[in-house]
Amino acid sequence: MLYALQTVPGLGMLAWREAEEVLSRVPAPAPPRLAGIKAVPGRDDIVLLDHQGGPKPLLSLRTVEDVFVVAARAFRVAADERGLRQIYAAVRSSESAGPALNAWRRVSGARTGHGTFRVIARTVGRQQYLRRDVGRAVADAVRDGWPGPWRPVEEGEDMEVWATLVDQELLCATRLSDASMRQRGKLRHLPASLRPALAAAMVALTHPAPDDVFLDPMAGAGTLLVERAAAGPFAELHGGDISDAAVDAMRANLRGVGGRVVTSRWDARRLPLEDRSVDKVAVNLPFGKQIGDPSGLPELYREVMAEIARVLRPGGRLVVLVGDARLLESARTGAARSLRPGPRHRVFVLGQPAMICEYTQSP
Ligand SMILES: C[S@@+](CC[C@H](N)C(=O)[O-])C[C@H]1O[C@@H](n2cnc3c(N)ncnc32)[C@H](O)[C@@H]1O
Repeated sequence: MLYALQTVPGLGMLAWREAEEVLSRVPAPAPPRLAGIKAVPGRDDIVLLDHQGGPKPLLSLRTVEDVFVVAARAFRVAADERGLRQIYAAVRSSESAGPALNAWRRVSGARTGHGTFRVIARTVGRQQYLRRDVGRAVADAVRDGWPGPWRPVEEGEDMEVWATLVDQELLCATRLSDASMRQRGKLRHLPASLRPALAAAMVALTHPAPDDVFLDPMAGAGTLLVERAAAGPFAELHGGDISDAAVDAMRANLRGVGGRVVTSRWDARRLPLEDRSVDKVAVNLPFGKQIGDPSGLPELYREVMAEIARVLRPGGRLVVLVGDARLLESARTGAARSLRPGPRHRVFVLGQPAMICEYTQSP
């Protein structure tokens, strides 16, 4: 069965790695296979994953925002009117529709194999038809061809069918997740809060271990701390922020987290922590767009990187999300040379390019 995992633009490969790791622990006739990563530019990455063991474990993935089962695909879809007929034919007669509906029924708990559905259509490319025409072609095809009966509605649907046409390729998939997967419960957000899936990917890159003393020195609403707690046991979580509102939101978001969690109002340039006392650091530095004064960023980055280098133990890991990776690198070379640079991952945050940068503290 082909599944589509939707995540933040740029996170496709990291989401696949998490899926592979999680699925390796569940019984299945064969290991999962990566069938491709599609970019819906500026909006999402879609990981296509061939997996034989049932959809439920996919719903627990932290780096993923939505899970779909693929019901139909079409390739070389024409940009003129013929494209709509191709879409209709491919969706109507797809052999994957029946198995996809079964997977949807298992996850949703629906008792019957029929009901109402809504099509969410997205198009990228230079098609001569409109997004809503694609939606209509898909809706007609589902109504006419899928085992049902299925009736299209504008709202209050039993099932969502997402049709994504990127240039000449159509992916038609039934949504298995609901909004709670993307939102992770009722987290309080601040304007610069990270999407939880992005925070989860950064946490995974710290290589969580049960004896971790974990720090986010500029934690905002605490999204990275919440995701670190979700990633498994830890020894201590430390988070702080210079803003009172952020510390309030952080405390509210961490209320349900058990174990030793210390939240403080502090200045990350002078952390109240011992030298070499922290194992892992993940931080989302201010980009200078929504928060702060961009002219102060070089100095702030230098001072914060120096402080992280001071508190991180030899061999410890640092993962930074930053808008301007060159500024970060110049802060590192100027003030934190003990942090050895590792891989980087390009992502998009609110439509802006950004970079996740990995570092390891020298022995
Ligand atoms: C990009 S936001 C972090 C968002 C956070 N990762 C979240 O998901 O909510 C950067 C944070 O750095 C904080 N900040 C700015 N200067 C600081 C400083 N000198 N010390 C501590 N925090 C600071 C801001 O108040 C802001 O909350």
